[in-house]
Parts: sequence; C-alpha cells; structure tokens
Amino acid sequence: MSIPDPIPLLETRQLTAGYGRVRIVHRVSLAVHEGEVLAVIGRNGVGKTTLIKALMGILPATDGSVRFEGNEITRAKPHQRARLGLGYVPQGRGIFSSLSVTENLFMGERIGEAAVTPKNYERIYGFFPVLRERGHQMAGSFSGGQQQQLALGRALLGRPRVLLLDEPSEGIQPNIVQEMGRLIRRLAREERLTVVVVEQNLDLIRAMADRCLVIEKGAVVAEILPAELADPAVAARYLAV
Ligand SMILES: Nc1ncnc2c1ncn2[C@@H]1O[C@H](COP(=O)(O)OP(=O)(O)OP(=O)(O)O)[C@@H](O)[C@H]1O
Ligand SMILES: [Mg+2]
Repeated sequence: MSIPDPIPLLETRQLTAGYGRVRIVHRVSLAVHEGEVLAVIGRNGVGKTTLIKALMGILPATDGSVRFEGNEITRAKPHQRARLGLGYVPQGRGIFSSLSVTENLFMGERIGEAAVTPKNYERIYGFFPVLRERGHQMAGSFSGGQQQQLALGRALLGRPRVLLLDEPSEGIQPNIVQEMGRLIRRLAREERLTVVVVEQNLDLIRAMADRCLVIEKGAVVAEILPAELADPAVAARYLAV
C-alpha cells in the first residue's frame, strides 16, 4: 500500500501572469511540499522574477490558480498572503540603505506583529549574529552578504511557512554563498520551512535545493535534480554560466 501524497503547501496550476497585456509567465504548474527547497532556474530574462511576484500576489494571475495548503489564494493580496505564511525577499533585497540595520529588521514586524516576541528575534540573532552586533550601523554600509542576511532575517521574523527568495547569491562573495546554502538547508530540515528560490549560482543550488524547475520563455521546460547540474553541458544549457 502506498502512502498518499500530502497536500502541497504551495501549488500553482496553469499559472499565467505578466505586465499589463504582456504575458510573461505561461501556464506554470508547480507544487512544493513542507520542508522542501525548490530552485527555479533559467537564463536571464526568462520570467523567474515575474513568477515569484505572481506567487506573492504582487502581480495578478491572468489565468490559472495558486493554492496554499489546498486553499485557493489566486486573488489574495500580498499582505494577505504574508499573513497566511508567505515570506518574500525580492531580487536586490529591498534594504533601506539610509536606515539602520535594526530599523530595517523590524520593518518585518508589521507583517505579523504577534510573531515578534523576544524569543523570535533571539532566534533571528542566533542565525545572524552580525545583525545584533552592528544593529546601529546604516544598512547601506553593510556588504552584499550582510545585506542578504538582513533581508533574510527580516523575512524570517514574520515566521513564514514558505519563503520566496529571488537570487539570494546576487552580489555576495563565494564563501558566504556556501554558508547561506547551509543555512537555508538547516531551516528546511529543522524548522520545516518550505523554500522557493530563484537562483543561478551553481554552488548555492547544489548546497540547498531538492529539485530544480527549469524555466524558458516563461514556461516550465524541465525538472532536474541539482546533481544533474554537475554536467557542464546541462549547466550551460539551463543557467547563465
Ligand atoms: N515591470 C515590467 N514591465 C514590463 N516588462 C517587464 C517588467 N519587468 C520585467 N519585464 C519583462 O519580463 C521578462 C521577464 O523578466 P523577469 O525579471 O521576470 O526575468 P528573470 O528571469 O527574473 O531575469 P533575471 O535573471 O535577469 O533576473 C523580461 O522580458 C522583462 O523585460
Ligand atoms: Mg529576476
């Protein structure tokens, strides 16, 4: 007897979205289960960011559906999705350079006020000690890697169940990339965090992802295992390397 599949935490069916009348994402169907790390890969400009924005509700779906724990959320606004448990770190991180690290961090507070307990922010400082040690510094003075930690910390403060990450390796040093991969893995394993992450960095994908969804021209063209990217021909075909 086989064990039935649990309901995916986040699922899309034939999701279509774009800008105005321009369709970018075409009929994307994906499903991600609790504790899973799904990488969305593909070359520049294929629509990865557009897909993530449609998952978060920043862009409306023009066709198809989005479900969270089996419940239809296709028309839900971003703040409603955040309340349900979707966290989002945009490409470029969305840090306010002229505000302090602490001010940036506690902006996430409004997402789920109940979640911001001392225990919860101790948890964030445990993951990213630099956010406490340099809390008074302007966020703009942080390195790329530190800013990414700040963006991740801010998103995690809302205690999301699904984290949507858009190119976390962008502009950060190779040694930090490995560390970030390990952290994301740990969050998935220990806290059952579910992650959908757009990424083009081979090392990071291999350090954290369970599966990779390959996007070309806004559509899913393949699903591969991270190990398959060890083949340079596969990596060259699917990533901007
Ligand atoms: N605000 C916008 N208005 C109109 N078209 C847009 C907008 N943002 C992106 N596009 C177009 O949508 C397409 C997909 O862009 P998107 O940013 O989703 O790609 P991407 O895969 O995330 O690329 P990258 O790897 O460079 O981040 C591109 O052709 C882009 O020009
Ligand atoms: Mg992008």
